[in-house]
Amino acid sequence: MEALENILNRVSGRNLSKPYPSKEEMDIVYKAALRAPDHAWLRPSSFIEVKEDGLDKLSEIFFNYGKSSPDISDEIAEKYKNAPYRAPMIIILVNSFKEHPKVPAIEQKLSTATAAQNIMLALNAMKYSCIWRTGKLAFNKSIQKSIGLNENQEIIGFIYVGTETGKKKQIPTLDIDEFVAYL
Ligand SMILES: Cc1cc2nc3c(=O)[nH]c(=O)nc-3n(C[C@H](O)[C@H](O)[C@H](O)COP(=O)(O)O)c2cc1C
Repeated sequence: MEALENILNRVSGRNLSKPYPSKEEMDIVYKAALRAPDHAWLRPSSFIEVKEDGLDKLSEIFFNYGKSSPDISDEIAEKYKNAPYRAPMIIILVNSFKEHPKVPAIEQKLSTATAAQNIMLALNAMKYSCIWRTGKLAFNKSIQKSIGLNENQEIIGFIYVGTETGKKKQIPTLDIDEFVAYL
């Protein structure tokens, strides 16, 4: 029942401050992530944890990308620079593609997406809050290279992590019958 309550009450948090989870807590979070379904055991998911000085490094990577792109204004580059400071910890979701006769790229990415949901549920169970963000900064090849990824790797998203300082969002009531059909 507690496990179900955790799933039913999860909401994303946008006002994230310290404390972030300890190393011991994060070990459990990654263990949960690695329980994601994974066709042919290809192990497509890995994670880069960013906190403290790491946030400055990520900010610099984002800013340098913005500054070096002719179609991005100074104002937007400044916005990129500030982006990592929206939370005290970020987990970068990395997907590593492996050629496989039965497992196409989409299945490998979906596996990392389910790892992300396990991360968010584990954090929620520990009373931390988080939000999955993507956008231009996630899917950009030059940023992925600056972070150290190789040609077969890509960023699936960023999970911003911390303790929610704002009001917990109301969970909307949905009519289940609008979302489910029966054959
Ligand atoms: C793949 C993916 C990418 C997302 N990217 C963003 C994003 O870049 N910015 C954002 O504000 N929300 C983004 N979201 C939505 C939030 O993570 C969140 O799910 C949404 O605000 C709804 O809140 P809830 O999770 O509490 O229902 C993304 C969600 C998914 C699944």
